[in-house]
Amino acid sequence: MAISKDEQKILAARSAIDALICDGKIFSGMKIGLGTGSTALPAVKRLAERIADGTLSDIKAVVTSFQTDNCCRELGIPVFTLNDSAIGGSLDLSIDGADEIDGENNLIKGGGAALLLEKIVAYNSASYAIVADESKSVATLGTKFPLPVEIIGAARVPVEKALVRLGARCVLREGVRKCGPVITDNGNWILDCLWDSPVDPRKMEEEICRIAGVVENGFFTKLRPTVFIAHSDGSVERR
Ligand code: A5P
Repeated sequence: MAISKDEQKILAARSAIDALICDGKIFSGMKIGLGTGSTALPAVKRLAERIADGTLSDIKAVVTSFQTDNCCRELGIPVFTLNDSAIGGSLDLSIDGADEIDGENNLIKGGGAALLLEKIVAYNSASYAIVADESKSVATLGTKFPLPVEIIGAARVPVEKALVRLGARCVLREGVRKCGPVITDNGNWILDCLWDSPVDPRKMEEEICRIAGVVENGFFTKLRPTVFIAHSDGSVERR
């Protein structure tokens, strides 16, 4: 019997934590970055279970959003920042979800508007793992899931014009049960950008960040994450 998308998320998350423990990528005393969203949180929960059953100890977490911070605090996982001396600005591993993953493991992230801290944490980690259900695996990036671009609100019009020159159509992300723009955990706004044809995510990650007023964008291309994708038949693909 096929398993649902929610079941796939939990399966990918739990399998990744257990596999990474077996591989020695997650170990007692480690500094770990924890992502945001409906697939990252089951990974946080599995981590807490492995701490509770005595497999892991002295785990220091750096979180990527208020959502994950709340989750860690509820589960008793100690939370630090990259600036704390116990962390010293770098992590052993980060684990997170993604909105889209192409064949080279380039990513689009930021569907939950947490891309800025997610990228800071990921790019300061010795290794990086992504957990996802099978719907996240795609051939190319840029035409289906809109790329989130975090911007300074005061620069919305010039940034949007610059993104249009790069071929994008942009929509300001609006709040739900809140009038006006979504305000990120860092006090910024999000433009969601789509292209009519696939883009080169490596080139675009760099070009978008050159626009004055852009804080960060959701292309993650500078890492080669280990990706765990759960399928509807109950299997987990590792690539
Ligand atoms: C948060 O901003 C995102 O980068 C999430 O990691 C991404 O949107 C995946 O979320 P889900 O696992 O909830 O689909």
